[in-house]
Amino acid sequence: MDGNGRWAQRRGLTRNEGHRRGKDSVRAVVEAARELGIPYLSLFAFSNENWLRPSTEVNFLMQLFHRYLLTETKRLMKRDIRVLALGDTTRLAPALRSALKQIVETTANNRSMTLGLALSYGGRQDITAAARRIAEAVAAGTMKPEDVDEATVAGALATAALPDPDLLIRTSGEQRISNFFLFQIAYTELYFTDTLWPDFREREFLQALADYQHRERRFGIVENGVNHHPLRAQN
Ligand code: IPE
Ligand code: MG
Repeated sequence: MDGNGRWAQRRGLTRNEGHRRGKDSVRAVVEAARELGIPYLSLFAFSNENWLRPSTEVNFLMQLFHRYLLTETKRLMKRDIRVLALGDTTRLAPALRSALKQIVETTANNRSMTLGLALSYGGRQDITAAARRIAEAVAAGTMKPEDVDEATVAGALATAALPDPDLLIRTSGEQRISNFFLFQIAYTELYFTDTLWPDFREREFLQALADYQHRERRFGIVENGVNHHPLRAQN
């Protein structure tokens, strides 16, 4: 979700105002996804690198996340949406951390959609932590090195409970991954749009999905019309 700052700057507003508007896009996209029957949606809300922004902006974003968790719980429950926290939550302030834990627990039995919140998340850190976990299991003798396969790695990532994404959307005209899901997006379709995140609402989301529907996914296989990943079945 990129472009909040530029959206605000273009209007002579503070960056924080852009973040505030971006929060409305989150609600719009989450609820549109749920209505469309999309089973999994992950949002890259705050990266490991974002911690290096000025503390006033970081603090504002943290407050915004906290408020989001408090105000959205009811709406998420009503829509049967389960929340998963992806990322290094140990870096979050205790109050936000416990609000996150609370929403994860409250929504744990919801099944209509899973919403992954990547907060304090980094793809490389995710892979590194997974490698450490696997190394620990090997050192403890509970796993053999030769048993480590792709499923082992996938299962040690923060996204263990999620299938690989079919579509990744990046807003605001940037065409890079910026340390989001790295291992997970091996065969993900990429969609880039110039629309800034605060302007990205249901209509733009539908456009991205329509674009995705015209893609031919081959997963490295020549055969026409094969539209499932050989590894997806494991997830
Ligand atoms: C994305 O908007 C929001 C977060 C990182 C939380 P930006 O804040 O990156 O907006 P730009 O890129 O400066 O326009
Ligand atoms: Mg940005």
